Amino acid sequence: MKKLRASITGVHAFAPEYILTNKELETMIDTTDEWITTRTGIKERHIQKGEGLATSDMAVEAVNGLLKKTNTSPDDIELVICATVTPDMVYPATANIVSDKVGMKNAFSFDLNAACSGFIYALVTASKYIESGSYKKVIVIGGDKMSSIVDYTDRTTCIIFGDAAGAVMLEPSEDGNGIQDSILKVDGSGRVHLHQKAGGSLRPATQETVANREHYVYQEGQPVFKFAVTNMADVSAEIMEKNKLKAGDISWLVPHQANLRIIDATARRMGLEKEKVMINIQKYGNTTNGTIPMCLYEWEDKLKKGDNIVLAAFGGGFTWGSVYIKWAYDGDK
Ligand code: UT7
Repeated sequence: MKKLRASITGVHAFAPEYILTNKELETMIDTTDEWITTRTGIKERHIQKGEGLATSDMAVEAVNGLLKKTNTSPDDIELVICATVTPDMVYPATANIVSDKVGMKNAFSFDLNAACSGFIYALVTASKYIESGSYKKVIVIGGDKMSSIVDYTDRTTCIIFGDAAGAVMLEPSEDGNGIQDSILKVDGSGRVHLHQKAGGSLRPATQETVANREHYVYQEGQPVFKFAVTNMADVSAEIMEKNKLKAGDISWLVPHQANLRIIDATARRMGLEKEKVMINIQKYGNTTNGTIPMCLYEWEDKLKKGDNIVLAAFGGGFTWGSVYIKWAYDGDK
C-alpha cells in the first residue's frame, strides 16, 4: 500500500492596501530608513486600517481566493486551523469566525498559537488529520493583524511588524509528493524575551495595564535575534541531514521573514544560494503567522511538481522548526 501524505494543493494570500513605509515611520519615531533597511531588510509593511476589521477579515480574503482557485465549495472543507497571535477576540477561535464568514457548514475549526512558528505547527498538525485517512480537505491559515498589538512608540519593535494572512489547502496524495518530514521544537524559558504582558489570566486588563502599555508586544530584540539565528539555521540543517538532502537537492527555502540577517544566516548554513531563498520581507516586514504562506503565494507560479522545499521558522515561546515538502503541483498551470 502506498503511503498517504498530505499535499498542499493550493495557496492564496492577502495583504491590506495601506502601506506604511520607512519614510512614514521616520515621522512617527526616532529612526531612519537607513537604520531599518540595514538592520532588518524591511522597506515597508502593509497595515489593516479601518473600523471593524480584524485578522479574520484578511483570512477570509485568503480563504475565499483559495476556494475559488481550487474550485472548492465551502461545504467540502472538513477542518480549518488558524495560526494567529492576534485573534479577533480571546474566544471564540478566529478559525470559527472565518468558517462562518466563508459559509462552511461541515467543518470543525480551531486556532493554534505558536507565535511566528504557528503556520508550520498548524501545517504539521493538519497533515496528521490527512495522513490518518479520516480527512480529505483541510485549510490551514496563517494570519496576523500585528498592528493591533504593536506599540508605535517602541522604535526597536514597531519597525519590524506588518499585517497579512495566507491560507493553504491540504489534501491526501499517494504519488510520493506532499509533506515528507518535520521537526518542531520549543523552549518555554524563552518567553521572558518575547511576550505580551497583559490581557491573559495572569494579568487581566486593568486601567494600570493599559497605562503601562502592557497589551503590546514586548520584545528584547538582541536575545531573540541570537536564539533565532542559531536555532532556525540549526533546525534547517538538521532536517536536511535527517533526510539526506544536499544543498543541490533543494529547490526553495521558505523562511519566516523576521529579519533579513536571520534569513541569510539560515541560507548560508544550508549552503543555498540566494536565488533559492524566498524573500519578501522588504515589502511586508514580519507578518508573524502570515510570512510563510505569503511567500508560497508569491512564488507559486515558479514552483514545480516534485520540488524539494524546506520551510523554516522561529518565534516567540520560543518555538521553532522546519518542514520538508515535495511540492505537489506545477504552480504555473
Ligand atoms: O519573528 C519572531 C522573532 N523576532 C525576531 O526574530 C526579531 C529578532 N531581533 C531583531 O531582528 C533585532 O534585534 C531588531 C531588528 C529588533 C533590533 O535590531 P538590533 O540590531 O538588535 O538593535 P538593538 O536593539 O541592539 O539596538 C542597537 C542600537 C541601539 O542604540 P545604542 O544603544 O547602540 O545607542 C538602539 O537604541 O540601535 C538603536 N535602535 C534604533 N535606532 C534607529 C533601536 N531601534 C532603532 C530604530 N532606529 N528603529
